[in-house]
Amino acid sequence: MCGIVGYIGDRNKTIDVLIQGLSRLEYRGYDSSGVALFDNGISKVIKSVGKLENLKHKLEGLDLRPQIGIGHTRWATHGKVTEENAHPHTYGGVTLVHNGIIENYLELKDELIGNGHEFYSKTDSEVVAHLIEEYTDKYDSFEIALRKCVNKIQGSFALVIISEKEPNKIYGVRKFSPLILGLGEQEDFFASDMAAVIPYTNRIIFLEDGDIAVVEKGAYRLLDFDGNEVHREVNEINWDPITIEKGGYRHFMLKEIHEQPIAILDTIRGRVSEETADILFEGINYKTFKSIKKILLLGCGTSYNACLVGKYLIENIAGTPVEVDLASEFRYRNSINDRRTLVVGISQSGETADTSEAIREAKKEGFKTLGITNVEMSKIARESDYSISTKAGPEIGVASTKAFTTQLVVLYLFAIFIARSNGSISKDNIRQKIYDVLQLPKLAQIVLMKEQEIKRIARNYFHYNNFLYLARGISHPIAYEGSLKLKEISYIHAEGYAAGEMKHGPIALIDENMPVVIIDTESEVLHRKLLGNVQEVKARQGKVILITSARDITKYSELFDEVISIPSNTYLLSPVISVIPLQLLAYYIAYFKGTDIDQPRNLAKVVTVE
Ligand code: M6R
Repeated sequence: MCGIVGYIGDRNKTIDVLIQGLSRLEYRGYDSSGVALFDNGISKVIKSVGKLENLKHKLEGLDLRPQIGIGHTRWATHGKVTEENAHPHTYGGVTLVHNGIIENYLELKDELIGNGHEFYSKTDSEVVAHLIEEYTDKYDSFEIALRKCVNKIQGSFALVIISEKEPNKIYGVRKFSPLILGLGEQEDFFASDMAAVIPYTNRIIFLEDGDIAVVEKGAYRLLDFDGNEVHREVNEINWDPITIEKGGYRHFMLKEIHEQPIAILDTIRGRVSEETADILFEGINYKTFKSIKKILLLGCGTSYNACLVGKYLIENIAGTPVEVDLASEFRYRNSINDRRTLVVGISQSGETADTSEAIREAKKEGFKTLGITNVEMSKIARESDYSISTKAGPEIGVASTKAFTTQLVVLYLFAIFIARSNGSISKDNIRQKIYDVLQLPKLAQIVLMKEQEIKRIARNYFHYNNFLYLARGISHPIAYEGSLKLKEISYIHAEGYAAGEMKHGPIALIDENMPVVIIDTESEVLHRKLLGNVQEVKARQGKVILITSARDITKYSELFDEVISIPSNTYLLSPVISVIPLQLLAYYIAYFKGTDIDQPRNLAKVVTVE
């Protein structure tokens, strides 16, 4: 996955821009890092294993004022975590950083070894530096060599490259891996994600697959892989740089949990009209999906859990049948759909390879596609026929929190929108639903006030090795989401189940060492059934942590070891509120365990490999 940056401009800024940029991209990978500092055609490469801090120490006291620099933070795919395998890779005057996978690197490597090349790393990326060098010799032009190379390599790649043959230029290439070009005053930036450059400029070009950018100080050209000039829009981005800082919180995750009331409000704002009973999405009107008879929701991880809630929302509000699939599985089964199916890809980053490939496939097969993403100009947003954004703002913590709750809000509004398109909802019903959704920011705020109580519970439970999460109805995906949060940041094994499934297997696991988190919903019937499940857990000495909005549970108090009361809400919107205590519980359990919460081991925020 990896994060890459490049900079050309002010000598006094280069190192700082690279380090700041890499620290904002560390969420993409953080097992090793490196920079190449380039001055008058001479490049100095400095790399380090482990967190970026280690690289920073190596750079301290270096008396260098390079005009150009490139940097990389790695999430290992090919080759172990070593300094040799860390980027940048350099060969014969060509130095580069790479994000992606070069699928044909072994055959290219054999060919190059046959031509006398010696390799220093075990990576797929190094092959690219060798190939460019080989072609530069052959064609006596760096630009031609680069084009020959990118046409020859297969797979996914974003590359930022410098060459001793072109001492005043920096090159960027994109194919199936994200790369943006940030335009400043007499300075330009490359990065995997705009979060790395937003503190310096808000003028961003989203390079497209098959683009090469040739940048000199204050000037740039864009070419395709055949050398033809291409033009891309310069976007003015309105992300506030302050929102990508920790703002006094110990971790991004905690900050992002606390940002949920405002993120939810931002996602609703401007999209609802109580007066006319309308839901408004930019670029879409009620006719757009009129012919749609079925909806297929696709996502991975947390976004997949949002899809599962989305099925309840759309089927309940609009009466349109919904199928849900893991984006990583969609292409490998024979899904029975026709042209009246709308395929919706849900993704925080909008860059997840499994989801973007699924959308690409669906589009190829002639389906209408919709991307629901948090990053507005992301790949999935751009490549889908239509797009709707969640307005969560940048999410940096690897564990998704505010992106999830805003996805649920968008799905709720979208369900009303579909119901309005097919005429199956009254205006009064829409007004009521708009009223309900507008209560969410306040309710989220009330749940956040439970933080200290949840911290206390976490202190009592952080030493357990296994957790079970149970819920019913629309909340059962919240059981999955709660368990996913816990395992990814605390490394504690956790399973989420629809509570009715417990007796079909998981009940065998229950004993005094198994805390069971129960998410009680806004349905009287489900509430009664859940109480039955609680009895079953208690009869086997399990520990019960109850998240409930039910008012009168005192008469059952001996059944629960811990109770977190949450405000009452409508059934359909209850997942938005009930997931918040689970995020806080996971956060504080991980906090007491002392794990690396924002950058848990083996994970990356954006998964651009399949
Ligand atoms: O950017 P996406 O929403 O497409 O990412 C999908 C998953 O990789 C992501 O939700 C992952 O499961 C999170 N780390 C969960 O917190």
